[in-house]
Amino acid sequence: MTDYSHCTITHYPTAVLREKAQPIEEINDDIRRLAERMVDIMVETKGVGLAGPQAGVNLRIFVVSIDGTNENARVYINPTIKPEGKVVAFEEGCLSLPGIFGKVNRYAKCTVTATDLDGHEFTEVGEGLLARAFQHEFDHLEGMMIKDRLGYAAKLRAKRRLKQLEKEYDENSK
Ligand code: NI
Repeated sequence: MTDYSHCTITHYPTAVLREKAQPIEEINDDIRRLAERMVDIMVETKGVGLAGPQAGVNLRIFVVSIDGTNENARVYINPTIKPEGKVVAFEEGCLSLPGIFGKVNRYAKCTVTATDLDGHEFTEVGEGLLARAFQHEFDHLEGMMIKDRLGYAAKLRAKRRLKQLEKEYDENSK
C-alpha cells in the first residue's frame, strides 16, 4: 500500500517532472486516493489540469477540470491521445513552472482514450481549451513541460525565472 494522501505540488527542476511516467497496473484504493489528492491540489492551486509527476508520482494519470472545479474534474488513467486539426498558438502556464507563461502550439482537437477509476475504458474528444489541456497533461507523462515548447523569445524571457526556481529548489532541499 502506498499512501498518496499527502502528495504536494512539485516545481521545476524536481527530477520526476523529467521522467517518463510508468503505466498504472492496478486501479485500487491507493490510486483512487491519489486521484482525489490530485484533484484537491489542482483546485487549491487554481489549475485546470494536473499530471501524476506534478504530484511527485511517476505514474500515467492526469486529472482535468476545464472550469477548475471539483465537480467537473475527470480522471484519465493510462491515457493515449490523438491530436488532430490545425495547430494553434495560445498562452499557457503550468503549476509546476510558476511565473512562466508563453505561447505554445497545440492541435485544435484531441481525442483521448483512457481508463476511469472503475477500470472502464472511455474515449473523449476535446476541442479548444480541453484539447490543449489533454496535450499539456500528456506531455507531463512524457517528461515534457511548456518550457520545452516555448518559442525562442519566450524561452529567453523564461531563463531568469527558471534560474530562480532552481535556486528555490536547492534551498528547499537543504
Ligand atoms: Ni503543466
